[in-house]
Amino acid sequence: MRKIPTNLRKSPPGKSSPGKAELPLDLAGPHVTQGAASQNRLYQALCHAIVGGIVKPGEPLPPSRALAKQTGFRRNAVTTAYERLIADGFAVATTGSGTFVAARIPAQAGAPRKTRIMIEPPQHSALSLGCTHIDARALQRFRAFAGRRLRAFGPEHLHYGDPRGSSELRAAIADHLLSARGLRCDPDQIMLASGTLHALRIVLGAILKPGDQVWCEDPGYPAARRAIEHCGYRPVSVPVDASGMRVAKGRASAPTARAAYVTPSHQFPLGVQMSMPRRLELLDWAKDAGAFVFEDDYDSEFRYDGAPLLSLAGIDHLRRVIYMGTFAKTLFPGLRIGYCALPEQLVGPVTAARAALDRFPATLMEGAVADMLNSGAFAANLRKSRKLYRDARDVLASTLAAASEGELTVPVPSQGLHLVARLAPSTDPLVAAEAKAAAGVGGWLLAETYHRAAPLSGFVLGFSGHPVLQLVASAEQLAKAALAALRARRKTSKGAHAPPRPMRIGTA
Ligand SMILES: Cc1ncc(COP(=O)(O)O)c(C=O)c1O
Repeated sequence: MRKIPTNLRKSPPGKSSPGKAELPLDLAGPHVTQGAASQNRLYQALCHAIVGGIVKPGEPLPPSRALAKQTGFRRNAVTTAYERLIADGFAVATTGSGTFVAARIPAQAGAPRKTRIMIEPPQHSALSLGCTHIDARALQRFRAFAGRRLRAFGPEHLHYGDPRGSSELRAAIADHLLSARGLRCDPDQIMLASGTLHALRIVLGAILKPGDQVWCEDPGYPAARRAIEHCGYRPVSVPVDASGMRVAKGRASAPTARAAYVTPSHQFPLGVQMSMPRRLELLDWAKDAGAFVFEDDYDSEFRYDGAPLLSLAGIDHLRRVIYMGTFAKTLFPGLRIGYCALPEQLVGPVTAARAALDRFPATLMEGAVADMLNSGAFAANLRKSRKLYRDARDVLASTLAAASEGELTVPVPSQGLHLVARLAPSTDPLVAAEAKAAAGVGGWLLAETYHRAAPLSGFVLGFSGHPVLQLVASAEQLAKAALAALRARRKTSKGAHAPPRPMRIGTA
């Protein structure tokens, strides 16, 4: 540590200062950015001395000439540092008498204080949802496209842009929706956002008033429900059966809701597909109520058996349905690019709401994603990952069923990147919670996706983006832990004859 003794003699007019014999300035501590300009280092060292009480409020700072001499810095650097101290409220200048530490110094320290708030980043442990695998060749092409786009950085990146995002990417998405989902829409009806939840919030903000009701599937996607609640709307739990959301129940409990959020192609988490009669029933309700339906089509690109189904928005011709898609699964979550296709009458209000919220999306990666779609690299990556995920799904389902000695029922999903493994319906959901904790794996408890409906005991497990050997090992661990938890429970209940306890577990 380099300490510079500094003599302090002068006091402000009319004030007698105790006067320090010297002002030790620490120019080598962590509060000083080494390599920064000399005036900045001096400023940081002086701030540190003031905030640390080494020189007290009202006490004089050394004359600039003296400090320059003692520190070896140019006098210019000292006066610039003093000017900044004065501008930031740490010091005051008195004509003819010099510079003094301010009577009240600003609360903040020169260097940022380490926050004590701990935010846990999401875990990517075995069987976690939300992991994807991007093929090495696809990643290489993405890097090349992104590099080329950065090198061709032009006026469209330097100015404010269209609140809906790049027209080039919107056109590429419109082509993709037509070929992959049979959804015909004009690129002008598409808005880019940083993921599904972002798109959901923007559109809700444009069409709903605080307190409006929104139907949500129960069980359902907890993150969407949270987003709806967070924005001040009222989620209404509508139960789900083998045909999807039970529209009649929704009509009975909240007929005048303003919107519904559904995952019709692959219900999250149960994986059921909404039947055609239910789809038509839902669209009829939306028409009668003047409501809108949010179709979250989060994993349709990963269909393993049979042709992809027509989207709800395709059946409705984008009249009352807002279609939402994401590149978080087809490419990778860190990209933060999702999109929605809007009914024509919503384009104006949603664009205005977007402009008022965050103006427009970041443009730099949009071109590279458009290149992925237009070049065929996106489709090639999908073909490869679909095969990989199908194999991962089969391995996970068969290992869970075998290692649990049949205690876990594991329907093999025909779509998507997760599966549900259920214990017998009468099992206390706490058994699953105990097993998951004992196995130390990721994924969710099935109960975490329920809100009002009685939760089933089981797990929601991701199979994408995990190495096969890890999938097998963690599936075995979880199945064995489930067996052990079941046996322990049977042993205690044999003695006590306790009925299974109903429980609610907070959503993740
Ligand atoms: C049901 C559902 N919708 C959407 C998403 C994607 O959300 P985002 O695009 O905000 O990353 C996920 C991700 O796991 C999901 O499970």
